[in-house]
Amino acid sequence: MNRKNSDGLKLTLQELRNDILGIDTRVPLLDGTERPYVFLDNGASTPTFGRVLQCISSFLPWYSGVHRGTGFKSLLATEIFDRTHDVVARFVGADTSHNMVVFTKNTTECVNKLSNRFGFSPGDLVITTGMEHHSNDLPWRKNAEVLHVGTSADGTLDLDELQSAIHRFKGRLKLVAVSGASNITGTCPPIHDIAGWAHDAGAAAFVDAAQLAPHRQINMLPDDDRCHIDFLALSAHKMYAPFGIGVLVGPIDFFEQGEPDMVGGGVVDVVAFDEVIWKHAPHKDEAGSPNVVGAVALAESISILQSVGMETIAQHEQSLLQYAYDRLKRMDKVRLYGPTHDLRNKVGVMPFTVEGMHHALVAAILSAEGGIGVRNGFFCAQPYVKKLLGVTREEEREAGCGIGDSDRTSTPGMVRASLGCYSNESDIDLFIEMLEKIVRREYKGTYTQDSSTGAFHPDGYRMDLNKYFSFFEDAGHVKDRSYSEAS
Ligand SMILES: Cc1ncc(COP(=O)(O)O)c(C=O)c1O
Repeated sequence: MNRKNSDGLKLTLQELRNDILGIDTRVPLLDGTERPYVFLDNGASTPTFGRVLQCISSFLPWYSGVHRGTGFKSLLATEIFDRTHDVVARFVGADTSHNMVVFTKNTTECVNKLSNRFGFSPGDLVITTGMEHHSNDLPWRKNAEVLHVGTSADGTLDLDELQSAIHRFKGRLKLVAVSGASNITGTCPPIHDIAGWAHDAGAAAFVDAAQLAPHRQINMLPDDDRCHIDFLALSAHKMYAPFGIGVLVGPIDFFEQGEPDMVGGGVVDVVAFDEVIWKHAPHKDEAGSPNVVGAVALAESISILQSVGMETIAQHEQSLLQYAYDRLKRMDKVRLYGPTHDLRNKVGVMPFTVEGMHHALVAAILSAEGGIGVRNGFFCAQPYVKKLLGVTREEEREAGCGIGDSDRTSTPGMVRASLGCYSNESDIDLFIEMLEKIVRREYKGTYTQDSSTGAFHPDGYRMDLNKYFSFFEDAGHVKDRSYSEAS
């Protein structure tokens, strides 16, 4: 059966919400009842669009390995896979006559690839910021000298400091790497201005768009524009298509030069015992059998987002954010971090702590008594979160979160609620209602902290996972897990 993708379709925000897989999924509460899950952890990973699932189910009968097969299915899958590159490139406004998309597995892999492929020489400098996810910080530290530009008291980037650092290090500076939106405070730095400053200093500009791409229209701008963004990365699992694909966009010339960072099948034209000739980009940088299904899923998800319109999505999320902050700001026992007044340059990420309560306890109660999924901890941005919390190195050591510590009872952190394009006022109402109860200490359960993970568990609450999704015989209940911090 021939199935068209969602190109040309028009969807409303409500239709978009209805299309979210699991929007009505009921989860168990501590009191034995169930209620529809309130998903406020979109900053980590989003649920899936039903249309994405339909699209890949229609594609899978045609699925075949790409690029090397001669059968009909392989030819069809190859054509589709190659085209998905252009769909993604156009989504971020890249000029495809000079730029291309390389598929990876996520943003982390993109930044590592860019860092490995950049060809840094000793003494070369990368300027990044103090508000980055570890994935836009550690890969640079591996291959270059790194300067972290600071943030102001409200968590926004210190633009004066950034501009003057870029100017000061002209010559040594090779790249300026900033996130398009912070995964902690949602702050969106002015990426085009920053790219312009980088170019004036002879450096390139990279934008980590993992948090920006699901929420705002991105335009990398034409290559001859001073404010053009040279490189950009994003992850499909934050864009309603969690099938293991990431995207690195950059100049074709860049990917054509040098050796790939990962070698093996798929990247070579000729291999002799004494010679290797690499394929052309992007194949050269997509080692092994690529994630064709993931690419199809992302392209479909992009069509769906565009069928509502990124502008409509941005306005909707903005008004929800305002709605949430109007209420959060009235809760004097709730401390908010990052900008709370002018929300225009901020995506829907709301970090907070509750006075006198451990962040992990707040998150545990929201889940066990409210059916609300949030996240707590450092969110893979330890330097930024510690700065926002005002935690010094000494306090950090005393709190027991230093290297090798086994007692995590006092590890600092925050709680983060984050919105998606399908979130609505009712999600916010349920969240605020439960948070108000927590602040008033009107929650019902007794919670015990696991000192090795720092997590709180409600006493007498044994989640029967098999009732909801049975896969492994022995996965019937939640075992104590070691503390794994995800984004
Ligand atoms: C701003 C930012 N950058 C990078 C990443 C890493 O993305 P991934 O886990 O998909 O590699 C995340 C994930 O949360 C993020 O929020």
